[in-house]
Amino acid sequence: MEKLRINDIISKKGKEKIVALTAYDYQIAKLEDEIGIDIILVGDSVSNVLLGYENTLKIGMDEMLVFTRAVARGVKRALLVGDMPFLSFQISKEEAIRNAGEFIKAGCDAVKIEGGEESLEVVEYLIKKGIPVMGHIGLTPQWILKMGGYRIQGKTEESIRKLKKEAKLLEKAGVFSIVLEGIKEEVAKEITEDLKIPTIGIGAGRFCDGHILVVWDILGYTEPPYPKFVRLYENLREKIKEALSKFKEDVIKGNYPSEKEVY
Ligand code: KIV
Repeated sequence: MEKLRINDIISKKGKEKIVALTAYDYQIAKLEDEIGIDIILVGDSVSNVLLGYENTLKIGMDEMLVFTRAVARGVKRALLVGDMPFLSFQISKEEAIRNAGEFIKAGCDAVKIEGGEESLEVVEYLIKKGIPVMGHIGLTPQWILKMGGYRIQGKTEESIRKLKKEAKLLEKAGVFSIVLEGIKEEVAKEITEDLKIPTIGIGAGRFCDGHILVVWDILGYTEPPYPKFVRLYENLREKIKEALSKFKEDVIKGNYPSEKEVY
């Protein structure tokens, strides 16, 4: 299987759906890559999904890079995108390019930056300097303080106008695709139809060019409740609990180790 590049992702628009997932470690990244996931995102969602922080404002570059290097070691084909964490691109353009460069050196093909108009200047700058960028608008978790919480976007005329304008501005700035998160379906549909680059939806309805979900959500490893858009393909929490309880019982009852399991 040939390595995917940003042009391969762009050229899927209108022809085939783009499948994207997050990954935070070598093993799951390798499995995702083997089954042909198109885009693997080392999401800053690792902050709450695996590190137990309450939100994505807590994670920094140092932690993101550990997960990114692990994922990169498992990915051969997929387009690998590193999620620029909070404050890694807001302070100055110089810091932004240094941090984006760290993701590229860690093995990423591109970085993702949250925010529309607020992030436009830095997005343009990184692209000019040769770093492919994926945009991310709508319900952007790094902007919860400004948004006043996790709120579905595109519910008012003003919000719809803002989203449409931001999508066009990001496209003009040169992003190769845009994540649409937590957006009313009809608005995401119109944005998708209005752009030449693909949109990747998460909680943005059926009509995006592709879809991304948090891998540990769809496998039922994260703690419920899940957002409405999460479809559970497995229930790992239950399965893991069951397996670990059996081990506990075996040890307590003296059934582990058995004769076959000793040297
Ligand atoms: O961090 C993340 O997982 C994301 C998504 C788009 C799922 O940004």
